[in-house]
Amino acid sequence: MVSSFSFAPFVFLLLVIGGTARPLYPLPGKGDGGSKRPLQTFRPYNIAHRGSNGEIPEETRQAYLRAIEEGADFIETDILSSKDGVLICFHDVTLDETTDIAEFKEFANRNRTYEVQGVNMTGFFTVDFTLKELKSLRVNQRFSFRDPQYNGKFQIITFEEFINIALDAPRVVGIYPEIKNPVKWSDGKRFEDKFVETLKKYGYKGSYLSKDWLKQPAFIQSFAPTSLVYVSNQTELPKLLLIDEVDIPTQDTNQASNSYWEITSDTYLDYIKQYVIGIGPWKDTIVPVTKSYVTNPSDLVERAHARNLQVHPYTYRNENEYLYFNFSQDPYKEYDYWINKIGVDGLFTDFTGSLHNFQEWTSPNPRDDKIESELLHKIALLVSPYE
Ligand SMILES: *[C@@H]1O[C@H](CO)[C@@H](O)[C@H](O)[C@H]1NC(C)=O
Ligand SMILES: *[C@@H]1O[C@H](CO)[C@@H](O)[C@H](O)[C@H]1NC(C)=O
Ligand SMILES: *[C@@H]1O[C@H](CO)[C@@H](O)[C@H](O)[C@H]1NC(C)=O
Ligand SMILES: *[C@@H]1O[C@H](CO)[C@@H](O)[C@H](O)[C@H]1NC(C)=O
Repeated sequence: MVSSFSFAPFVFLLLVIGGTARPLYPLPGKGDGGSKRPLQTFRPYNIAHRGSNGEIPEETRQAYLRAIEEGADFIETDILSSKDGVLICFHDVTLDETTDIAEFKEFANRNRTYEVQGVNMTGFFTVDFTLKELKSLRVNQRFSFRDPQYNGKFQIITFEEFINIALDAPRVVGIYPEIKNPVKWSDGKRFEDKFVETLKKYGYKGSYLSKDWLKQPAFIQSFAPTSLVYVSNQTELPKLLLIDEVDIPTQDTNQASNSYWEITSDTYLDYIKQYVIGIGPWKDTIVPVTKSYVTNPSDLVERAHARNLQVHPYTYRNENEYLYFNFSQDPYKEYDYWINKIGVDGLFTDFTGSLHNFQEWTSPNPRDDKIESELLHKIALLVSPYE
């Protein structure tokens, strides 16, 4: 997959930083006779967590282009708001960890303290910066052990720019945006309203696997059940409830620390399945880990599947510090376990290419064979008159 060709988009994109020019690859329906290669639906989904962020700083255009190039079925993002109400793709509520904000003297007095999910947090909050100010920053890798060569090079992007990356892809690539709990929201509109309006503006609609959905696939994810219930009145797009670590209270329910057990109970799954088509649990809650060894899996996947709920666990990472000893430091072995033993329906990965290569190796996309055999057939027809 890695060829010299793969770096072509970066060269061009470096030239357009700061501008709004669209990259030079075919527009939807252009250059391929209007029939894009469809989303594969026969094997678990490869969900590019914050783009191919194992290689390139998270949630940047370049991380998403890389993920598409490497075979992502869906590109994943977190939606927050700028001070001037523009929806942006950014994971943390503060800019401190993953941008170069510390280098900007003019912003030095913009640190604030807000209560975020019951805890007072201090830092540079995205919501205190206009889009223009946010665009002047550059994104860095979150982890020091990841390739630093792209640090300080790429911008934060807006939700609309993110959508255009998916729509401009040379094959059908789905989007998987997360509704975050915004720290504050002042213009009277609910964050969820703007979120759904943006999806509608770009034509995202339809229930799971419907004709509309297959044309522009999207999953809506949130840790906050009330957000999912709220948007269920506004869009038929499939939704998934994210589930955190067992000791983290469920967002917006303000429950005690046993809330994990409550939201994974049979009763709760029966309730939430009216609104969602699946759940997205932190993987260590399905297969608990002790001293870096995986122990026996819980029955959560079975109970979800019994209700026709999909399970998309997060997050798969190649690095040794994330690979438990049972997998012999081999990410393929981990994918094999989760796909073939646990039987999940989608995987959030930081390394799109590794998951894609594993899936192509173990369950190749039959469409590829078909394309190849059609091509061979055409070549045979061209050749045969001369035989
Ligand atoms: C912001 O940073 C300055 C300088 O480090 C510090 O004095 C101030 O207390 C900080 N403000 C907040 C709200 O944390
Ligand atoms: C956060 O700080 C404010 C102001 O000091 C205080 O009133 C509030 O109780 C604090 N909240 C938490 C959760 O500690
Ligand atoms: C959704 O719409 C129904 C019917 O109009 C209404 O009764 C319900 O309160 C709405 N739910 C939400 C969460 O807005
Ligand atoms: C993982 O390895 C440990 C240590 O060998 C073993 O006890 C445990 O059963 C293994 N886990 C699974 C799910 O096989």
